[in-house]
Amino acid sequence: PLPAPYRVPLPVPPVARPVAPGRYLITQRVAEQEVLPGVRTPVLGYDGIFPGPTIESRSGQEVVVRHRNELPVPTVVHLHGGHTPPEHDGWPLDLLLPVGDAQGWTGHHRMTGDVVAGERDHRYPMTQRAATLWYHDHRMDFTAPAVYRGLAGFHLVRDDVEDALPLPRGDRELPLMLCDRSFTADGEFAYPGLDRGMRGLPGVEDAWSAGVLGDVVLVNGAPWPVHEADAARYRLRILNASNARRYRLVLDGGVPFVQIGSDGGLLAAPVRHDVLDIAPGERFDVVVDLSAVPVGTEVRMTNALGEGRTADVMAFRVVRTARDDSAVPERLSDVEPPAVPAGAPLRTFTFARGDTGGHSGWTINDEGFDPDSRRYETPLGQPEVWRFVTDVHHPVHVHLDPFRVLRRGSGGPGPFDAGWKDTVDVRPGEVVDVAVRFTGYRGRYVLHCHNLEHEDMAMMVAVNTV
Ligand code: C2O
Ligand code: CU
Repeated sequence: PLPAPYRVPLPVPPVARPVAPGRYLITQRVAEQEVLPGVRTPVLGYDGIFPGPTIESRSGQEVVVRHRNELPVPTVVHLHGGHTPPEHDGWPLDLLLPVGDAQGWTGHHRMTGDVVAGERDHRYPMTQRAATLWYHDHRMDFTAPAVYRGLAGFHLVRDDVEDALPLPRGDRELPLMLCDRSFTADGEFAYPGLDRGMRGLPGVEDAWSAGVLGDVVLVNGAPWPVHEADAARYRLRILNASNARRYRLVLDGGVPFVQIGSDGGLLAAPVRHDVLDIAPGERFDVVVDLSAVPVGTEVRMTNALGEGRTADVMAFRVVRTARDDSAVPERLSDVEPPAVPAGAPLRTFTFARGDTGGHSGWTINDEGFDPDSRRYETPLGQPEVWRFVTDVHHPVHVHLDPFRVLRRGSGGPGPFDAGWKDTVDVRPGEVVDVAVRFTGYRGRYVLHCHNLEHEDMAMMVAVNTV
């Protein structure tokens, strides 16, 4: 029994409370949650909730998150967008084995990573600007079903530059996690994995090998929710946490999205969009101005790429007039235009369906993920141009440092490429060049497609910073 759109109130994930200054404890556990009204859905949740609690941190102030795994499966958490030392980044073969059931997992995995039972700390120096980050599971071969079942949450980094701006805040700053899900008749998340126990066989039924799409759009874990709003400006931190779905968001009445930030924080200056294209893994920080909307009016945010029920996303119902001192300044932050020195190395990564060791999967430069590969080594501090070439759509994500989009096809950056990005949506048959430069830590990281089924079917490479 799916609800009518725009009836269920928009939930806002709770902000995590530190157990000591800068220290958090998150228990990963199975819980039941009312995702659809009147239906109990089992979720794999950080602290047993989906989305997980929002961690709020300050630029330059270290945060340590202790994860405790009470789930029936191993996990490894990644802070997406974090400038994180390699041992804390969530290398896909590092495993946090379940509390009390570690033995059962020995031998199940290629245990070439750092394998720990029960609990472990992730240390995040937060030496980075204010930005909308998110954390999610990243286990080798099983990221997609783990995230689908609930292992995802926000991590917001704040700093003085952002605090000095008169942007909407408090109740008028909303993180919005968009994702699509399907449900079984019993109300469980219906993930068409080959191994429902998430133990042995990665990947999905053939029909879904391009990526799993659901028929219900959730925002912060609620189906097509509605938010009762003031007639005022709102800051929306929109995250596409879907496994494979991309959205083209549109607001009723031609209300524009005024983009103030991207994956890697504030833009230099706002960019106005009538529609907002967002691919899996991407974040857009936008201000929408509802101040001219008459009280009693519903402003829907719809998805022009959806069909039927996936064309609905959420709505704002303007219920009162209110004072609003916020503004979007014409200058937001210092972001230099991207520049690459002449002679910078160029590396090409070709994303295509292919053979990944005897079975069909998704490859980068004709190979499936090889964790031990040293094929891609890049010296810290060295500017490089990375060229992404695709067959079909692939949202390409790079760990450790954000990058700048230099060009798409024969043109410059596209309308959604402004600022610092860590995930770039490369369209079918497209060539996108980005400027990368890694800083801070030597070690092994990954570059992968953020279509999570593609990722689990090996569309990932090890990137070694040296
Ligand atoms: Cu959001 Cu490597 O992932
Ligand atoms: Cu892909």
